[in-house]
Amino acid sequence: MRIVTLATQKGGTGKSTLAVGLAVAAMQDGERVAIVETDRQGTISKWAARRDHPEPAVEHIADRFVIERTLSVLSRRAFTLVVIDTPGSDSEIVTEAIRLADLCLIPARPSPTDIEATHPTLKAIRRFDKAFAFVLNQAPVRGQRPTRIAETLHELGVLALPYLALRNDHMDALAAGLGVSELAAKGKAAAEIRALWGWCRQRLTEGAPAAAAPQSRASGGDAGAHPALDDNPLHTMMVQSLRLATLPFAPWLRPGPDRDDERQAAPPRKTGTER
Ligand SMILES: Nc1ncnc2c1ncn2[C@@H]1O[C@H](COP(=O)(O)OP(=O)(O)OP(=O)(O)O)[C@@H](O)[C@H]1O
Ligand SMILES: [Mg+2]
Repeated sequence: MRIVTLATQKGGTGKSTLAVGLAVAAMQDGERVAIVETDRQGTISKWAARRDHPEPAVEHIADRFVIERTLSVLSRRAFTLVVIDTPGSDSEIVTEAIRLADLCLIPARPSPTDIEATHPTLKAIRRFDKAFAFVLNQAPVRGQRPTRIAETLHELGVLALPYLALRNDHMDALAAGLGVSELAAKGKAAAEIRALWGWCRQRLTEGAPAAAAPQSRASGGDAGAHPALDDNPLHTMMVQSLRLATLPFAPWLRPGPDRDDERQAAPPRKTGTER
């Protein structure tokens, strides 16, 4: 049984919406899915109450000490995938949901404040050395901004694909007790969520590739590859912000007996802010 946790302390980024959308898409793909809801707000329980179909199963948990036991029970009941929805807070229940995850997804709208707000989540992810990726959500259908942010995150190796546009189907599906791929199976929102589930399935099966060390013009890195981005303050802020998340995952920073060999194989690029 594999566990995907959706977490970020920023409210309204789409944790619950994506939990439901991914759970239903995975169910349609043949997985036996349960959603574990750890948010007292109860968005998913209310969604389930509006739903006719008994799957995915929904378990509401208010106590962090119960999560692990619940996952054991779900595993014994032959569920193959659990999606954990968490509250928009930096709390012990979120930390526990991250600790137990095989893959953490961090939904963020393409805005600096959403990216900045992910720091506590990234700290917990780093502490437990978890595979993770940002999911850009509610991106405007038109405009360059999501593309640019996506390009930066992708360059750092921390972006789940595809990113999701702002589409009414997501809101309508939540209201109808459906997954977005049930509401309008041939719609664009459904296609995006199915593709995102495909990305997650692949990542859960094959594991995460090594993340690239973030680079900027100041670092002397590969800045010339994206000249339009390098002069963008948002891009600079994101690169600095994401150092927190990506540096510990760089192979040459991992502790271990082969560390010196790895350093020789891939020397770090020094920057002004590195210690
Ligand atoms: N891609 C999208 N397109 C359109 N609406 C969306 C999309 N993603 C989320 N929403 C809407 O945005 C609102 C907030 O989403 P959601 O409740 O999933 O966020 P959340 O991160 O779970 O928030 P909280 O931290 O409060 O639990 C909801 O009304 C939801 O329907
Ligand atoms: Mg929620």
